[in-house]
Amino acid sequence: MNDLILTERRDGILVVTVNNPPVNALSPGVPEGLVAAVKAGNAEAAVKAIVIIGGGKTYIAGADIKEFGKITSGERGGIALAPLLREIEDSNKPVVMAIHGTALGGGLETAMAGHYRVAVATAQAGQPEVKLGIIPGAAGTQRLPRLAGTAKAMEMCAFGEPVSAQDALAAGIIDEIVEGDLLEGAIAFALRTPGVRRTRDLTAKLATPEEAESLAVAVKATAARKMRGQKAPLAAVECVAAASRLPFDEGCEYERAAFEKCLFDVQSKSMIHAFFGERTVAKIPGLSKDAAIAGVKRAAITGAGTMGGGIAMVYANAGIPVLLKDVSEEALERGMATIRGNYENSVRKGRLTSADAEARLARITPVLTYDGFDQADVVVEAVFENLELKRKTFAEIDAVARPGAILASNTSTLDIDAIAGATSRPEWVIGHHYFSPANVMRLLEIVRGKATSDSVIASSMELARRLRKVGVLAGNCRGFIGNRMFGAYRGEAVMLVEEGATPWQVDQALYDWGMAMGPFAVGDLAGLDVGWRIRKEFRHLEIAGKRYPEAEDLLCERGWFGQKTGRGWYEYDAQRNASPNDEALALARDYAAQRKINQKKFTTDEIIERTIYALVNEGARLLEEGIAIRPVDIDMVYLLGYGFPVWRGGPMFYAGCVGLPRVLDAVKRFEWEPAPLLAQLASGPSGFTGWSAR
Ligand code: 3HC
Repeated sequence: MNDLILTERRDGILVVTVNNPPVNALSPGVPEGLVAAVKAGNAEAAVKAIVIIGGGKTYIAGADIKEFGKITSGERGGIALAPLLREIEDSNKPVVMAIHGTALGGGLETAMAGHYRVAVATAQAGQPEVKLGIIPGAAGTQRLPRLAGTAKAMEMCAFGEPVSAQDALAAGIIDEIVEGDLLEGAIAFALRTPGVRRTRDLTAKLATPEEAESLAVAVKATAARKMRGQKAPLAAVECVAAASRLPFDEGCEYERAAFEKCLFDVQSKSMIHAFFGERTVAKIPGLSKDAAIAGVKRAAITGAGTMGGGIAMVYANAGIPVLLKDVSEEALERGMATIRGNYENSVRKGRLTSADAEARLARITPVLTYDGFDQADVVVEAVFENLELKRKTFAEIDAVARPGAILASNTSTLDIDAIAGATSRPEWVIGHHYFSPANVMRLLEIVRGKATSDSVIASSMELARRLRKVGVLAGNCRGFIGNRMFGAYRGEAVMLVEEGATPWQVDQALYDWGMAMGPFAVGDLAGLDVGWRIRKEFRHLEIAGKRYPEAEDLLCERGWFGQKTGRGWYEYDAQRNASPNDEALALARDYAAQRKINQKKFTTDEIIERTIYALVNEGARLLEEGIAIRPVDIDMVYLLGYGFPVWRGGPMFYAGCVGLPRVLDAVKRFEWEPAPLLAQLASGPSGFTGWSAR
């Protein structure tokens, strides 16, 4: 035994505690220690039964994800958890698993290798491996259907969502919910346990092979839709189905082969990168350790349009009361009606109880003046995207907000320093850029100005966490990380059309590649006038002789702004179903003819390279300029805010998978100016990995 596993004896019960903070992952030594403890318990006559419990805040949260990279790089051998868990199950003395916090992945698999499971009411259990691009790899797909039935197991393994203790009890995954102290309850359970019951021997709940096959067809169809492009959910379903036709040991072998295939696939590497990325972006190098973090108890927002209303919901959902101001009764009513409609929708879909929805709505107070803004710990400006208007609004906020309040702008492109300059306290001003719909998208791009204090940055990162967002810190430039790169990407898409591709061909290529939507469909949704207005505003910065994507301006000049005008690159019927707008394409072709732009046919690969490498090249510039701290910050912005497929890991990670020399070659072939950092790293051994601006 080792420090990772602690044992004590109580009332003839051997209590085994996993001691591997913070989440008791099954790092090397943990499963071996558990087996040794169980064996010791079996050898000791005075021990009647064994209880295994997690120390600290949780039961076992799974295999140690950091080890997977070592396996795929060949640094260590494969994962050998399943045989170890089998040894625990072999115990001749009853093993009771005591669960609090989360029993996830290898954690639930360990729990199922015990003979019984008890849990506190707040515990959760799940097989979330698919979220890492893998499947359960320690017999989870074989034991779970034996406990919970094939249908439930398939759903849990395919979609990866955890279930509550109550659901787990109803499904047969756990045997009892303990009220009061978990360890006491588990010991009491162990003392009255009827004896050993091995999960692998249970077969009553397994579907017949035929039933399992038809269940698999249905679940795979849903997974293919909900988790488009991902391989692991399909593999997980097949393994659960295999439990119905194969004996336990052969089922485990089947699972092992499928697990390894997933583990060595680039999809799992990408998704593991995203898992750690989500946690890495919260760590800001160079930020003063003493930066005070301001707690936010009350918020105030000015601007009750789509964004302001969505942001108000974000605060209300996190339990923070919020004032929502607009200039007219009518605008406020419209904003509140949209919010109410959104909550009603959630109730209708069963995502919220009506009491919950009412409580959230009650946290939002519509107001026509700044009265009460002096009580807010954070004031969010969400008015129209116009610098003068934002400066005027900030001057007003400056006059009313209390000292020490965070003053945040929801600008998506404008200069934070110019906005902060309208106040007497630029160190308190910061960008909080939300993504539409604000109450759904998980990204919060946090933009530091040159004067923004460390404390305001640290407080904003902490606030993001409380609002259940992932905060990514960006520097100040036009468009910050997200929209500056998006400009390069979308511009390239328009140029492809100017050169002979069709918008629907480009959209289809990128959708099939994994993007949530194609760039033209996105433009139509967001409103083509937004980009048009920005292009006009910044025309004076354009470099003479350089080609810019302009065909879209011709649509805008005709008032074709996309969905809101019924017509953009696509035409929309009353239900907003899209069909190609051939007249828009004709405008693009006329434009190309006037400009004498050569026409050609594009392959799907060419479309992907032109658009995705445009992201990469611009991303490399952002790194060089220090606008993005690390490549992973860019990746998280794209995964959480722009519908980039998680199984490709984000643009910078993807570039590493393709190989930077190949990306650089393409960039040169397209006659773009390569970002110097791209050129520099392409000749080095590790690409973007480990590169940091600080
Ligand atoms: N392995 C390694 N490190 C892990 C880990 C794991 N399974 N789970 C969490 N961590 C690390 C995090 O990276 C973080 O590290 P940091 O402090 O250095 O950034 C730290 O533990 C704390 O994690 P969180 O910040 O996420 O803590 P929370 O309290 O918010 O959440 C949690 C806890 C719900 C357990 C969440 O961490 C989580 O979902 N973890 C992943 C669970 C999972 O996917 N398990 C399956 C693993 S794959 C597997 O088991 C394969 C098997 O079938 C063979």
